[in-house]
Parts: sequence; structure tokens; C-alpha cells
Amino acid sequence: MIYLNGDWTALADARVSVLDRGFLFADGVYEVVPVYSRHPFRLDEHLGRLQASLDSIRLANPLPASQWRALVLQAVAQQDFEDQQVYVQVTRGCGPNRDFPFPDPVQPSTLIYPMPLITASAELKAQGVSAISREDYRWLRCDIKSLALLANVLLRNEALAQGCAESILLRDGWLTEGAASNIFVVKGGVLCCPPKSQLMLSGITYDVVLELAAAHRVPLEVRPVSAQELRAADEIWMTSSTREILPITRLDGVAVGSGHPGPLAAQMDAWYQAFKHNVLRQGGAS
Ligand code: PDD
Repeated sequence: MIYLNGDWTALADARVSVLDRGFLFADGVYEVVPVYSRHPFRLDEHLGRLQASLDSIRLANPLPASQWRALVLQAVAQQDFEDQQVYVQVTRGCGPNRDFPFPDPVQPSTLIYPMPLITASAELKAQGVSAISREDYRWLRCDIKSLALLANVLLRNEALAQGCAESILLRDGWLTEGAASNIFVVKGGVLCCPPKSQLMLSGITYDVVLELAAAHRVPLEVRPVSAQELRAADEIWMTSSTREILPITRLDGVAVGSGHPGPLAAQMDAWYQAFKHNVLRQGGAS
């Protein structure tokens, strides 16, 4: 069952109009919330980022955070799988025809669509994944979690076509993020990642990693990372709500560091898993 515009319906029966501006213009935003054993992880942060995305596209939030929270929990309870990725989408709804001006009044479309969440296996974490690097040719507002993901889709699929898990994006020689993840590098025991800006999504997992690094006194530098530093890194990780922390062990066909996942990746993953389980034991508040 999914939630669409106020109704609960089977996924196969859910319908939206061709006039929906999400369909015509990608005029909308979204979130993906990870859920473990039916407990959403960092839900308030995801709803906060949804609000920020909506503010950025000048679309009033159709629901208060308390109602989003209640609906997400209701959606989660209705699935027959425990671990879920809950897709939340808001579009600017339908206009009278396909035209650029915002409809007046606006009736946003809302969707809550839980899917099974399958995180990386222990074997995959122990082996690492491969990535390619690509020029980041997206727009200049990558901080908005916009539905307009064509570039991300093309870039991720370029990686997949080469048997790789991710495209790591470089804008004018500087690391931004992955096609659907944030990227961290480790050199000489120092963890390094680009600072938040309009050129990357402010990842919820990125924030957790920074918090864990601070709590465990990992040497940390949040500063621009050059393409040269990326290629010379001892470790590279990708992070996201669905991939968690995944080591990248080959970049453009070349081994990253030793070619095996590094010690800090394993350590951070252990902290992350412990933190996650702690939070979930306390009922999901993080
Ligand atoms: N994407 N950067 C981009 C471009 C992303 O699409 C994502 C996540 C992230 C990581 O953000 P977070 O840690 O909050 O998941 C960074 C989701 C998972 C998706 O589009 O499916």
C-alpha cells in the first residue's frame, strides 16, 4: 500500500494525471528515508531537508512535519518487509495545461512509497566496489533534492554499464559528490570531504559520518578536495541512506590505496552500525 494525495492504494492501482508538474517538468522534490526493523532512521532530519528543498523551489509544504511523521509510520506499518526505504515525493500538482507559470491555487501532489531496503552485504563491504570519475555537468542547485535527476540517472548508468557502482563527480577539478551519494576520502589517517554548498546534496548519512568522526576524534578536514587528492587517496567511501558507508576500491580501473577496503572504512562502518542500533533501541529518535 502507498499513500497518494490523501488515499491509501495498492501500488499497481496508483494513478496521477499527465498534467502533474512532476511528470511534465520534474517540478517537485523528494526524500528517501531508511527504515530498519520498522524504525525510521533520522526521520526528522529527512523531513527538515524536505522542508528546505520545498522552500528552495517556493512550494508550500502541504503537510506539517507531525503529519508527515504519522503518515510515514503508517506507511511503514502496512508493508510486509521490515527494512524499508521510504520514498517521499511532493510535486507542484496539476495546472490547467502544460505551461510554465505556477498554478494558482497550487494543489501539491504527495506520495509516500515504501520499498524494501537491502543494504550492502558483509561480503560487498569486505570487497569494496568500483567507481568511475566524470565531469559534474549538473545544474548549480544540487543542494535541492529535486526530482530532476536525469543527469544523475545518466551518470549512475554510465558507471553501471562499466560494471561499477558509482560515478564520482568532479566540477572543474574539484570533488562534488557521487551520482547518488556523498564521497569521502582518507589520506594518511585524515578523513576529508567537501564542505556543504549548492554544488552537492547535504547528505543525512554525510552528517552522521561527520558526527561519528568528531565523537571518535578522527582527524577530519572538511574542505575542497581536488581530483589529484581523490586519485591519491588511501581510501574512498560513498555514503547514502541506502548504501550506508561503502568503500570504493577501484577508481577508473586503478586500485584505490591497497586496492582493498581500508581500516578507517571498516571502523566507521562499525561505529555507524552501532550508532544506528543504539538509536533504534531508543525508538528511532536520533
Ligand atoms: N540519494 N548525493 C546525491 C546526489 C544523492 O542522490 C544522495 C542520496 C546523497 C546521499 O544523501 P543521504 O545520505 O541523505 O541519503 C548524496 C538517494 C538515496 C536516492 O536518490 O535514492
